[in-house]
Amino acid sequence: MIEPVGDRNESPMENQILIVDDEKMIYSIVAQRLAKEGYPCVMANNGREALGCFYQDNFSLIISDIRMPEMNGLELLKNVKAVRPDMMFIIMTAYPEIDMAVEAIRLGANDFIIKPVDLDLMVFSVKKALERKKMEEEIEAHHKNLEKLVEERTSKLRKALLVLKKTHLDSVKVLAGAIDAKDPYTRGHSDRVRKMSMRIGMELSFNGEKLENLVFGALLHDIGKIGIRDEVLQKKGQLTPEEYQYIQQHPLIGVKIVEGIDFFKDKIPMIRNHHEHFDGSGYPNGLMGETIPLEARIIAVSDAFDAMTSLRPHRRAMPVEDVILEMGKGKGKQFDPKILEIFLNGKIYQ
Ligand SMILES: [Fe+2]
Repeated sequence: MIEPVGDRNESPMENQILIVDDEKMIYSIVAQRLAKEGYPCVMANNGREALGCFYQDNFSLIISDIRMPEMNGLELLKNVKAVRPDMMFIIMTAYPEIDMAVEAIRLGANDFIIKPVDLDLMVFSVKKALERKKMEEEIEAHHKNLEKLVEERTSKLRKALLVLKKTHLDSVKVLAGAIDAKDPYTRGHSDRVRKMSMRIGMELSFNGEKLENLVFGALLHDIGKIGIRDEVLQKKGQLTPEEYQYIQQHPLIGVKIVEGIDFFKDKIPMIRNHHEHFDGSGYPNGLMGETIPLEARIIAVSDAFDAMTSLRPHRRAMPVEDVILEMGKGKGKQFDPKILEIFLNGKIYQ
């Protein structure tokens, strides 16, 4: 039997209370008093009936007797808490059932009222439970709001970081363009070396920061050319041995330009070592094999390919087939054999 009591039209869902007792007299008294206090009530005769109401309607609080036919108050409590752990639940119990009341608290009941019911105490207990529920809901809403705010801020920061990275890459590209512009024969060289080196890096499973670092290093590998005099860099015809030696200083000039700038620190090994040869015959330090940083060995392959396929003051651009043959001769000598294989087999140059 379900009987609504009180004016439920004002706010049908808010603070609605489900009262469960098999003694009609008790639940009528309780419900009348609560309705007077402004709480709409629905009444049920036992646990099973109450569970039906609980599933169908929206309640802020359940007040339940313990001993009832069909389903007792503890069973009802267990079933309700399994679905809605936050449901406010007050047990009504007589003194001899005090052990059961303790068990009810253990199962998640929020309070218990001793029978015969003192109506003032009951109203106090109901108000306390509903205030607690309201506070819990406010805290929950606050948490959700915070989570949403954190999510929004994180997403904004992520977007800002992407824009920043893109801007950063663009400004380094401008810088690389300035390096290439010093020598009209190397226009676009740094960017082509970047693209090829990036593809080799990806073949070697570089990702994230490691790949990003390689990209910037490839763009900046020739930054030292900024410090080389134009008349030597742009000289038409063969370089004298002295001029050649002078140009060979560009890796170390590059290191001097960037050292002391935090962002460039991890690009230094690429700037310094991109003219080292695998067999130790390169410059500036004559490093050999894997003592040459991997990123520098990658850039060395892309750099040589682009240099040979580009028009230079003292020679024509070589056809790609000839360059491939020529580079093959440098396997294990000028070039790291594994990287050269990746470059040629993967047709990275295409
Ligand atoms: Fe170089």
